[in-house]
Amino acid sequence: MEIFIDTANIKEIKEAIALGLIDGVTTNPTLIARENRPAKDLLKEICSLVSGPVSAEVISLDASGMVTEARQLAKIAKNIVIKIPLVKEGLKAVKILSSEGIKTNVTLCFSVSQALLTAKAGADYISPFVGRLDDISEVGMDLIKDIRTIYQNYGFKTKIIVASVRNPLHVVSAALMAADVATIPFAVIEQLIKHPLTDIGIQRFLEDYKKIPQK
Ligand code: G3P
Repeated sequence: MEIFIDTANIKEIKEAIALGLIDGVTTNPTLIARENRPAKDLLKEICSLVSGPVSAEVISLDASGMVTEARQLAKIAKNIVIKIPLVKEGLKAVKILSSEGIKTNVTLCFSVSQALLTAKAGADYISPFVGRLDDISEVGMDLIKDIRTIYQNYGFKTKIIVASVRNPLHVVSAALMAADVATIPFAVIEQLIKHPLTDIGIQRFLEDYKKIPQK
């Protein structure tokens, strides 16, 4: 499973790169707004740090506006992927962009039917938001399981990005369900690394080391 970092924060991206586990980056308008600098500059810097896909979202609500924005964003760097909201106009935009060879990540997916149509439209990625489904008492990961089954049944090439990841269990379940990608906030990456028994073990080894006679 590929691991993307779900952030627009340069410090977090650099630290995740140093950990050697980042295959790509996903951003959205909320994440970009937190960084308080022009989106284009920020995306350019992110793309210079990461060779894998970097998702940047359009804000237009009509297909022609989305396509115009997408063409501009795609000029920022070769690895830009255009995030398109999962609405009717978005699917039309995906169709046009995929015919132009511009990669798309269809976002804000909350149902299997939406995911099926996204694959038919020819999107490169689909982003089901599991955490936001959990928030309304639905099991977000069930959606991933169903999409995986349907994509497998028909050999759709659209890659599943598990998004709106809120905890390590989302990531583990994603891997068990053979999701293609999990896009993970930096705090959850840190949680994935940490284990209390590792910390206790290190502490104990350090204490015992002090008991070893030094010559
Ligand atoms: O990848 C989508 C993500 O940024 C949304 O996460 O936590 O706002 O639901 P969240």
